[in-house]
Amino acid sequence: MDLLLATGNKDKVKEIAAKLAGLPYRVRTLDEFPGAPEVVEDCDTLEGNAVKKAIEISQFTGLLSLADDTGLIVPAINGEPGVYSSRYAGEDVSYADNVNKLKDRMKGVPDGERGAYFECVIAVAYPDGVVGTASGRVDGVILREPRGEGGFGYDPLFYHEESGATFAELSIAAKNKISHRALALDEAKKVLAGLAHA
Ligand code: IMP
Repeated sequence: MDLLLATGNKDKVKEIAAKLAGLPYRVRTLDEFPGAPEVVEDCDTLEGNAVKKAIEISQFTGLLSLADDTGLIVPAINGEPGVYSSRYAGEDVSYADNVNKLKDRMKGVPDGERGAYFECVIAVAYPDGVVGTASGRVDGVILREPRGEGGFGYDPLFYHEESGATFAELSIAAKNKISHRALALDEAKKVLAGLAHA
């Protein structure tokens, strides 16, 4: 059975595909569907956007599709960047631009108030509707300077205390044991296992 990863983000694809290894699915990616629509992420919740992406891409490809929507939530700055995490510094910006904006916004925030969390919602859908959603959350601290070369997005600023490292200092395998996306995928895998055996 085919399962399409409904994301153009190659960094997400790497993490998700590694995590799904072992399930009885042939994992497909959007590279195989050059005309696939750019889904407009205009919902004000992660779940809304994840469901929208999974359904629209499933309708285009006809395949069971899995989408991820993720936000970094920093309570000290009113929950920013939140649902706007991908375009925090503007449209078509780099990961570094977003990291720099967050670093600047957090300049005056004292140690002890720099807690943050990543939240990830995964949606799995067929063309006629969603078959399941799952979410995962991981807590950490926003550093004053980026650290590490791995991961992507805000990972270099996100220090995970239990690991003693930023997410950018962890291997994919290590991040995939503890991350927001890993936790959501662990739940989503139960839905996928059920569908595969239906
Ligand atoms: P979206 O889920 O595609 O809307 O992505 C939101 C943005 O959050 C991405 O552009 C990244 O900057 C960031 N992001 C998503 N997942 C992660 C992650 O696992 N680590 C760090 N940043 C992430």
